[in-house]
Amino acid sequence: MTEIRTPRLLLRSWHDDDLAPMADINADPRVMRWVDDGSVHDLDRTAEDIERWEEEWDEEGFGLFAVELLASGELIGFTGLSVPEFLPEVMPAVAICWRLGAQFWGQGYGSEAAHATLEFALQDRGLERVISINRVGDDASENVIRKLGMAPERETAHPVYGYPLRVHTIDLTEFQA
Ligand SMILES: CC(C)(COP(=O)(O)OP(=O)(O)OC[C@H]1O[C@@H](n2cnc3c(N)ncnc32)[C@H](O)[C@@H]1OP(=O)(O)O)[C@@H](O)C(=O)NCCC(=O)NCCS
Repeated sequence: MTEIRTPRLLLRSWHDDDLAPMADINADPRVMRWVDDGSVHDLDRTAEDIERWEEEWDEEGFGLFAVELLASGELIGFTGLSVPEFLPEVMPAVAICWRLGAQFWGQGYGSEAAHATLEFALQDRGLERVISINRVGDDASENVIRKLGMAPERETAHPVYGYPLRVHTIDLTEFQA
């Protein structure tokens, strides 16, 4: 699996000792507020999550990167790519996603990791386009989406939870490396 270095971050494969810090992130209701039904994930669920993310790398050749802070070696969360099967109307598609621990917000890490992920997707992996799907009201994600230069594509509703979603898109010609 690819490793990517940015000025402050290392995007890398998952290690066994990522489980505890990722479970702490997943246990924080502030972090999970805009994810699925907003419920937190415990340690067992986080272990299942990481296993599924690793399988996606094997199956698709892309997936979610563990994001490490170069200065300290801490795991700060993930960014990466996943196939948004929960939203059939946008398929086929690959979506960019992110989740950082709350203590790491507000320092530009989300955008730094997301930009590197888009570069990987569009340039290295050669994907035709990447979409993002965010809940209306998730302003922090929308701020990242705007800074990435992604264009609004549609508004829709979550097929299970019913809340409003925004879909944005970008391709290689629109991407500012
Ligand atoms: C969405 C999320 C990844 C955003 O992370 P983030 O690192 O705070 O986002 P940004 O990269 O936009 O940085 C935020 C602010 O840091 C500030 N900042 C401080 N130092 C900075 C630097 N060196 N470079 C850039 N920005 C910096 C900026 O003010 C920036 O905001 P601005 O662009 O409005 O000026 C984070 O809020 C998160 O993980 N949320 C929970 C999970 C979630 O909701 N996921 C999506 C649903 S599935």
